[in-house]
Amino acid sequence: KQRVLSGIQPTSDSFHLGNYLGALQYWVRLQDDFDAFYFIPDLHAITVPQDPKELRKRTKVSAAQLLALGVDPKKSTLFVQSQVPEHAELTWVLNCITGFGEASRMTQFKDKSVKQGADNATVGLFTYPVLMAADILLYRPQLVPVGEDQRQHLELTRNLAQRFNTRYKKTFVVPEAHIVTGTAKIYDLQDPTSKMSKSAASDSGLLSLLDDPKVSAKKIRSAVTDTEREIRYDPETKAGVSNLLVILSSLTDTPIVTLEQDYAGKGYGDLKSDTADALIEFVTPLRAKVQEYMSDQGELDRVLAAGAERAREVAGRTLAQVYDRVGFLAR
Ligand code: TYM
Repeated sequence: KQRVLSGIQPTSDSFHLGNYLGALQYWVRLQDDFDAFYFIPDLHAITVPQDPKELRKRTKVSAAQLLALGVDPKKSTLFVQSQVPEHAELTWVLNCITGFGEASRMTQFKDKSVKQGADNATVGLFTYPVLMAADILLYRPQLVPVGEDQRQHLELTRNLAQRFNTRYKKTFVVPEAHIVTGTAKIYDLQDPTSKMSKSAASDSGLLSLLDDPKVSAKKIRSAVTDTEREIRYDPETKAGVSNLLVILSSLTDTPIVTLEQDYAGKGYGDLKSDTADALIEFVTPLRAKVQEYMSDQGELDRVLAAGAERAREVAGRTLAQVYDRVGFLAR
């Protein structure tokens, strides 16, 4: 079996619809045909300030959401990054083959460090993409399902893999990003030219999976559209409407062209209320399942402990090879 790997940060109380449509829905599908490794990168989370109690809670609620969305620990290895120390260990080696300029060109670092202010941006934030490369390369996956905003990090990962392979000996698989056109970037409902993100200035354009569905329905009904009347997919000139079409299409598994035909002659109000209904239908059972997983912390801990153990077997083998190839003494 080929291998797939991906991660999602535990930095909020709920994943948002962009996370699900851009990435998590593919995690669930790919686990049937691939040997899947999915994890919660809490080391990445602390590249910006986190409250320790909140971080612990969010890590658990993240695991509960992944299980509720259908990540099946019988098919996939589900784990928390900090419980697999090899991630931090490989990062150091990769830091030492990453150019300073190369790391400086990472646009997410540039955006985040501007937001944080130059002196508050940490070295951890700077080396974040190298940690991400380590996450991936340890498991030698062929495929990494992510949204568009991770494309540049995947490119760096591929470069580091190739560099290590040529400088030492072929050790890493050079992974492909699995970025699905159409859902790779879900946009903010109030600002449909920016990606949906938990760090947007206002949360009125953000659909959090665990929010009260009534609140989300209201946000959808007040989504920004345009002054025309036609329901047509055209992201260039009709960003808001196109975003709603992508959301409705994915949630109901209906092609966008079919939706365009169905909505001929109908108004934006119809599109919005059907999208709101589809979201409510999706999140209502999901919220209940998350509650269920959260109510059995013992079981949650066991799943994660078993996942970390399986992850360490694979990660440990790769790291041992890497350490040997760079010339460290055997442990
Ligand atoms: P994170 O936690 O920000 O996001 C998790 C996944 O959701 C995708 N995503 C979106 N997709 C479509 N539209 C959006 N508006 C949207 N917002 C987020 C992201 O692209 C991502 O796939 N650095 C990663 C976490 C990570 C990782 C890894 C991923 C750490 N190590 C190794 C893959 C492999 C991140 O911060 O994702």
